[in-house]
Amino acid sequence: MQRLDESSDTGVVVNLGDWLQKYAFDVIGNITFGKRFGFLDHGEDIGGLIQALEKRRVFTSLSGVYPFLHGLTFRVMSRLPGSGAAGFAYLSEFGQAELARHKAKAGLSLQADDGPIPQVDRFLNGHSEKPESFPMHAVLAHSMGNIFAGSDTTGISLTAIVNNLCRNPETVEKLRAEIEGHVSNTRSPEALTFKEAQSMPYLNAVIKESLRLHPATGLPLFRKVPAGGASIIGQYFPEGATVGINTWVAHYNEDAFGPDAPIFRPERWLEADSRQLSLMEQYNFPFGLGARNCLGKNISMLEMSKVIPQLIRNFDFQLEDPTQPLQCENFWFVKQTNFRCQVIRRKAP
Ligand code: HEM
Repeated sequence: MQRLDESSDTGVVVNLGDWLQKYAFDVIGNITFGKRFGFLDHGEDIGGLIQALEKRRVFTSLSGVYPFLHGLTFRVMSRLPGSGAAGFAYLSEFGQAELARHKAKAGLSLQADDGPIPQVDRFLNGHSEKPESFPMHAVLAHSMGNIFAGSDTTGISLTAIVNNLCRNPETVEKLRAEIEGHVSNTRSPEALTFKEAQSMPYLNAVIKESLRLHPATGLPLFRKVPAGGASIIGQYFPEGATVGINTWVAHYNEDAFGPDAPIFRPERWLEADSRQLSLMEQYNFPFGLGARNCLGKNISMLEMSKVIPQLIRNFDFQLEDPTQPLQCENFWFVKQTNFRCQVIRRKAP
């Protein structure tokens, strides 16, 4: 909020997507290690981490599509100047240092009285209980996995939500009315709790509709066909075949969402009858589906549902050029590249 206040004071046009990504990074750092990276505190890309992830996006996405090239290209890439290796070294050092800090107090009982328990402490407890099945390298891998899986994705999803709000003032009005209705009934008017946010149907429809139109991942979610093969919509696939569907295809399916599928219309989630709603739910999976679906879904829903009402209550966002469509790049994460707007602090009502 302080950073956006500053932008409002100076009137500069900012890349809001950058700020939302910094927010997502700091929150997931806090949840995982009990410590923010400090992107928001310092207002900058600490250790060049965001830039490093940016540089690796092309490489990691192509490695996923052509895994047989990974061994060779990884070695070459790591030696190239400008590969983002320094940023990765920073992240790795941050993770190792945090792990050491938490290891030093391992064995102490985990109590929520001192605030939320960082996930790394839970991982360390899991390690001391079953060191063979949950070795120390898994503690680091899971902690860093949170950072990789939960920063870009949440930043992209938040940017998608705010972009839709910028382009649909009537949605903002409805959302503000819902928020104000709730705030007058709450104990802490400044920050809605997750529970309060969850009880706001329009807010949840706005989030759902934004993630439908802009799912953070833009390549198929691949699966291996199990033993015995499988028939999918009348087509037989032998066992071991790789099959998958891209969420961007499923989410724009007019058979499920109607002819206005490409349009941002949160109301569709509130108006649909139970048959239509169930069809739409089946075709809407921004967090994936089945046994390997997103482990961080609830965390990111918490992050988004708490911050969006705060942003909308306090600021107006004016696109630098509303005639320009949002530009994106798809390297597994579909990242917005030109979400530039002016932040205007709203006057107290
Ligand atoms: C809006 C934010 C997010 C989106 C859109 C998202 C999306 C996804 C998607 C599409 C998958 C693949 C699912 C599949 O193949 O069925 C996935 C997997 C995963 N996500 Fe997320 N994610 C988000 C946030 C997070 C956060 C905050 C965390 C960590 C705290 C996280 C941790 C994971 C992990 C660990 C997996 C792998 C699960 C597995 O393979 O078993 N995600 N996510």
